[in-house]
Amino acid sequence: MPKEYIAIAIDGPAAAGKSTVAKIIAEKLSYIYIDTGAMYRALTLKAINRNIDLENDQAILEELMQTTIELKQSEAGQIVLLDGKDVTDEIRFQNVTTKVSHVAKHAPIREEMVRRQQEMAKNRGVVMDGRDIGTHVLPDAEVKIFLIASVEERAKRRHEENIKKGIASNMEDLKREIEERDRIDTNREASPLIKAKDAIEVDTTSLNINEVAERILVEVSNI
Ligand code: CDP
Ligand code: CDP
Repeated sequence: MPKEYIAIAIDGPAAAGKSTVAKIIAEKLSYIYIDTGAMYRALTLKAINRNIDLENDQAILEELMQTTIELKQSEAGQIVLLDGKDVTDEIRFQNVTTKVSHVAKHAPIREEMVRRQQEMAKNRGVVMDGRDIGTHVLPDAEVKIFLIASVEERAKRRHEENIKKGIASNMEDLKREIEERDRIDTNREASPLIKAKDAIEVDTTSLNINEVAERILVEVSNI
């Protein structure tokens, strides 16, 4: 049996399956799930709505310091509250997706986000997914997973997800958007997307989501 209060860090590029598998693992272990990408997305939505220049890190930081971002469990799953308002769906819209990496590249923004994320994870069993969890947010996490998949497979998964939701979708556009986001996330100076030295890389290209979950649960049971 896994010991109490372990931390599981799941990182990797866009649409590798992080949040889907993180939710499954959290549910199986009765841990909390923290979607750090949703926090960067919520801040980006606010910055867009306030017409803040996304290159102006100090202006965005000032806004962030007056902003509450909550991740709450509801019957329908996790919901994201921005200053108390439910923005769960809105933060997934295309205008946020194409801009979020520009907001997330700023070091002062990341510092404040990491502080909040560490606070949320304190003294509890947690599954957290993002880009810098194993390297910066939870460097002492007992289990660190780095999920990858080919960009074609990742674009296909997002495409199928869009179709299911009835959202207009184009594979080539999705592939371009994913590649561009990965490029910015990997090349930024402040805590770039990188596999932690002690993370286990899992290539999910030809695995289904349950196979990925089982793979991670094996690591958890080995702790
Ligand atoms: O789910 P998806 O792959 O579309 O992205 P996400 O996890 O919602 O993250 C959105 C964006 O937030 C990423 O492309 C990164 O720019 C940023 N992010 C980050 O920099 N650090 C994190 N820990 C999580 C997300
Ligand atoms: O959080 P991240 O952006 O890494 O990816 P996600 O939103 O969890 O996964 C993107 C889509 O791929 C979801 O619709 C998953 O159900 C699907 N997926 C899959 O079909 N097979 C996998 N092995 C992993 C994810």
